[in-house]
Amino acid sequence: MIITKHIEQAELGQPFFRLLMSDLHLGSINSDHDAIIADLQRAKEIGARVLINGDVFDAIGPKDRRYDLVSLHPSVARSKDLTKAIVEMAKEILAPYAGIIDVIGIGNHEEAWIAYCNTDPVRRLIEELNADGGKIVHGSFWGYINTLFAVSGHRKRARHKLLYLHGTGGDSPVTKGTIDFNRKGRSWQYDTLTFGHKHNIVCSVEQIGDVSERGKYSERRQLNLQTGSYYRNYRQLSDAECLDYSYAARSGHPPKPVGGLFLTVRPVLDANGELSIKQDFASDIVAPWKKPARKAS
Ligand SMILES: [Fe+2]
Repeated sequence: MIITKHIEQAELGQPFFRLLMSDLHLGSINSDHDAIIADLQRAKEIGARVLINGDVFDAIGPKDRRYDLVSLHPSVARSKDLTKAIVEMAKEILAPYAGIIDVIGIGNHEEAWIAYCNTDPVRRLIEELNADGGKIVHGSFWGYINTLFAVSGHRKRARHKLLYLHGTGGDSPVTKGTIDFNRKGRSWQYDTLTFGHKHNIVCSVEQIGDVSERGKYSERRQLNLQTGSYYRNYRQLSDAECLDYSYAARSGHPPKPVGGLFLTVRPVLDANGELSIKQDFASDIVAPWKKPARKAS
């Protein structure tokens, strides 16, 4: 369990954004690089901090039963040192965003690579990104990100507890991971839980009743956010590529939603006048759109 602390100077009501992303599956021909960059670019534009919650790498090598020659991204497929090649590729994609990434964790795909190759590609990636000034923490498989809001005029800080794990178990095509929400909610304290792994986007909102230190009844919102992946199970194949379907297609998995989730947290005063937090989520940050002014010719 890795605990990461993040302090935000904030005004009451000021939104703090965190992009929750998982399952990039870099190194695979089915990893959607454009979708990864689009989410990270949006995060940069709105000043969001970023959590990358495992399966950063597809990490399917020759010793894995899902391996075949065409599963690798063309830019790494001919490299004998595959770890170096996938880490360099990930660095190229993520380096422009290294300054906004707080935590990168591992998933079951990295675990398999670590077992086969005795090297952790996420550790190598973090070392590369931090060498250029990043302050990224290795998030392990589980962890909390503890965000403290220092609000002017308030001695006490508002706190948001984000519990993350990569996720476990099968695809859950019917329940889609909602059973995990209930199981984790029984055993862990958090404001927001996030996991990936199953490549679904499923979000649920609970309302938790409580009594405050001052003896006032209060309720707070608890979020359970399952993030999508950037792995496309299907792509259109030409006749020459007719055997190049993905391992997900081979297993008959359906097409899955692509992308991460944006968590929004605001420090607010609750109904009893006590400093607390308000939180919400979205798969994109939608802002009012203005038609670009035409340039005079
Ligand atoms: Fe995954």
